Amino acid sequence: MARPLIMDVDTGIDDAMALALAASLSDYDLVAVTTVAGNVPVERTAENTLRVLSWIGSDAPVYRGMSQPLARTLHTAPNVHGNDGLGAWQEPLARRDVEEVSAPEAIIQTARRHQREIDGVFVGPLTNLAVALTLEPRLAGWFRTVTIMGGAFYSPGNVTPVGEFNKNSSDVTSSVAEFNMYVDPEAAAVVARAALPATWIGLDVTHQVSVTHDVWRCIENVTAPEPALIREVCRQTFETRRMDKVHLHDPLAVAVAAYPDLVTVRHGQVRIDVGNVIRGETRLIEGDGRTKVAESVDSGRFMDIFRTALGV
Ligand code: RIB
Ligand code: CA
Repeated sequence: MARPLIMDVDTGIDDAMALALAASLSDYDLVAVTTVAGNVPVERTAENTLRVLSWIGSDAPVYRGMSQPLARTLHTAPNVHGNDGLGAWQEPLARRDVEEVSAPEAIIQTARRHQREIDGVFVGPLTNLAVALTLEPRLAGWFRTVTIMGGAFYSPGNVTPVGEFNKNSSDVTSSVAEFNMYVDPEAAAVVARAALPATWIGLDVTHQVSVTHDVWRCIENVTAPEPALIREVCRQTFETRRMDKVHLHDPLAVAVAAYPDLVTVRHGQVRIDVGNVIRGETRLIEGDGRTKVAESVDSGRFMDIFRTALGV
């Protein structure tokens, strides 16, 4: 029996692949997608989400969310995702519009409707979830599980100290913050303090899973919507930016929500720095508690799940 799933995204390149993966897994019924400002402004993340869902044939309702972090100026990542957010992919057109209800309200209503059955996967800055928790504190008890792509607990971050999303996140040594945490640390702190059944999927594990140039070249001529989406959203990264891999940050969060034993975890309390020098740094204060932080990942098994589900 498929479980209801709500996703909160800042559709960008890896968010697009995460949406395709979620829609393809028989474990889930994607019942709502909320959008937030992050990789690109929220008007674009909402439009990109509608475009991606139209392309893969999903009729999940889409809700537009917060356009600014709780207390910061928005930092985006056009150098990674392109100004459009989908790596300059022109193809899919949105065939519908966002719903009237705001994203925070949609999170509350959807979780209330499916309480204790619904999984939530949050793969952008946590602004929408923080607002929803503030509006309705009971929300924390309505999720079956919450999986968050965010943080860098045991490894360097991917946002340089000046706040620009580094052009090649794998070679950043001085950064302490992961992008989603850097963009809205105050929201992340609200979420970390809430009594959510949360598993945090940080760069510690997401940097171990990627689409390599070799894999990408194998799908050059595919025609099915899902592998074609993977090919086209990765094209700019490989052909223009000349990178050798596209990290699968957000798809890993979806896969861990469905198959938690993909990662080993540590338990405790997550702390987010809301200062300015180490803004967005994440730490785990180990101990009891429902909060988990992923420490290692079975990357081979994840890639099998990803490639089988999406025909890559
Ligand atoms: O740091 C990677 C995360 O930031 C991913 O979710 C990516 O889409 C961006 O939102
Ligand atoms: Ca994202």
